[in-house]
Amino acid sequence: MRKAILAMFAALLAFSGNAVADNFPSRPVTIVVPFAAGGPSDAMARILGERMKLALGQAVLVENVTGAGGSIGVGRAVRSPPDGYIISFGHLGTHVANGAIYKLNYDLVDDLEPVVLLPSNPMIIVSKTAVPAKSLSELLTWLRSQPGPPTAGTAGAGSGSHIAGLYFENVTGIRLQFVPYRGTAPALNDLVAGQIDLMIDQTSNSINQVRAGTIRAYAVTDDKRVDSAPDIPTTDEAGLPGFHMTLWSGLWVPKRTPKEIVAKLNAAAVEALHDPGVRKQLENLGLQIPAEDRLAPQALGAWQKAEIAKWWPMIKAADVKVE
Ligand code: MLT
Repeated sequence: MRKAILAMFAALLAFSGNAVADNFPSRPVTIVVPFAAGGPSDAMARILGERMKLALGQAVLVENVTGAGGSIGVGRAVRSPPDGYIISFGHLGTHVANGAIYKLNYDLVDDLEPVVLLPSNPMIIVSKTAVPAKSLSELLTWLRSQPGPPTAGTAGAGSGSHIAGLYFENVTGIRLQFVPYRGTAPALNDLVAGQIDLMIDQTSNSINQVRAGTIRAYAVTDDKRVDSAPDIPTTDEAGLPGFHMTLWSGLWVPKRTPKEIVAKLNAAAVEALHDPGVRKQLENLGLQIPAEDRLAPQALGAWQKAEIAKWWPMIKAADVKVE
């Protein structure tokens, strides 16, 4: 008798779970972007959200929840109900580096369910136009000749632009003074205004200012040039061989979100990434779309774990101090 009741209860649960998934989404879905509006993460989330709404049949909203290198926005998503309506947008910084820097009150792997790996882009070394350097080697000479540590804009400790800065210090031996902002959009504004000396930014964020000539570009941190910016050399070509960093992004939902809902969100994102108009927008920003065999939710999970193993030693060795 007891077994029969339990079996019936389990069937009821499965049925209701499927019913919930069947009706998902029945109201707008929100992507929480942990950095300021107008930046590279925000831009990608809005481009994808605009197309995902067609697949999901509901509006896809973007909410910017900033601070602490993106860890506050991710925490907001982690604490949300596991029902697929709150999605965490993140990247190498927020879903890898922050775990080696902050005492997070959540676990980046155990408290989040991977949904889909999103496009990536190499970082780009850029400076204010007042810097009298025309090449990367001239920039390094100028940076080394400064009386104090040159100022480098970041989106906060643990952000992609900060990790790139730590890596740059490691490779060049040049100590930088990091200036944290709530995203690389406001940091870029200050670079254009000459308030800070340089950034190691996502190509997708700086590329339009480089094209406008309001900032100066020296190299992209990859072994191949960016198709939409063929005139910018690689770090290998420009004199910093091997200084490679690609910032990849992704979507996650809270752990215990039904797998049927994860599958629906994944399918909507993949459909958006297949859309020619969306691809054109992303590639024009210098973004590289993942290969098909990397678009399943498990692929993001495996990649995140591999990146944690790769980056944590360098980040922990840098002994980053955060309040
Ligand atoms: C942003 O959108 O501001 C960036 O993703 C921040 C960063 O990680 O550098």
